[in-house]
Amino acid sequence: NNLSIVGAPMDLGQNRRGVDMGPSAIRYAGVVERLEQLQYDIEDLGDVEIPRPDRREDQKEHLRNLKEVAEGNENLAKTVDDVIQRNRFPLVIGGDHSIAIGSLAGIAKHYENLGVIWYDAHGDLNTGGTSPSGNIHGMPLAVSLGIGHERLVNIEGYQPKIKPENIVIIGARSLDDGEKELIKEKGIKVYSMHEIDRLGMTQVIQESVEYLTHKTDGIHLSLDLDGLDPQDAPGVGTPVMGGMSYRESHLAMEMLAEADIITSAEFVEVNPILDEKNRTASVAVGLMGSLFGEKLK
Ligand code: ARG
Ligand code: MN
Ligand code: MN
Ligand code: MN
Repeated sequence: NNLSIVGAPMDLGQNRRGVDMGPSAIRYAGVVERLEQLQYDIEDLGDVEIPRPDRREDQKEHLRNLKEVAEGNENLAKTVDDVIQRNRFPLVIGGDHSIAIGSLAGIAKHYENLGVIWYDAHGDLNTGGTSPSGNIHGMPLAVSLGIGHERLVNIEGYQPKIKPENIVIIGARSLDDGEKELIKEKGIKVYSMHEIDRLGMTQVIQESVEYLTHKTDGIHLSLDLDGLDPQDAPGVGTPVMGGMSYRESHLAMEMLAEADIITSAEFVEVNPILDEKNRTASVAVGLMGSLFGEKLK
């Protein structure tokens, strides 16, 4: 029951300012106090260093701010690796979703078959070639599969970090053409909003747990707050209508807590500048409470 919080104040993986303040907003919403109530031994390691670019690449480019995103993720990977070596649970708070590149680089080396639950409106399966935006926060899942720029896929000196059959995407409702092709080609399991509406969140999580547990030796939860409906989580840079509700999301977290299968987690894309009185950071902290077992205590 040892948990280490790692802040990753990254905003260079996309082009809206403010998401670098996500870690502060989540701390301000009381993450440490909330999880301490669950009898965790919490250590807050503060924020990893994210380099500042000499010149922010605001033009459309294939991989915006590549060098700084790569360096920041190298720092994050080392910190997360160290947390796991000390037998603690890494809880990474972002920052834009490009930080999943570093989280997974530091985590996956400790597992032979790391599973990933990607809770998100998006697939984040683009490459420089398929991306409509050039934003690296739309690429981390592809990078972790070893698909993408060599500077990113080789962080921590090994690739791939994860296998396509060990991934479940939940909440997808905005996939680019290249992402759809990759999903087909690799046979990645996706529960889009359509399946969530049809099956209900209970069955979606039951099936996901069954799908992953027998073939993995650890499961990372990568939760993008834009997976939730913008009505419940307005403080995100790339909102998409028709998302998972606050209640569905709590149910999902509670079921994951009951299954007791999550071995690392990250909560990303909280942007306090776009938020309403820090609501989205509070929602994130509430979901962490459920993920770490509030209902079970
Ligand atoms: N698919 C779009 C892109 O690649 C949006 C990605 C949004 N990603 C995110 N982590 N919010 O630009
Ligand atoms: Mn190590
Ligand atoms: Mn997203
Ligand atoms: Mn995402």
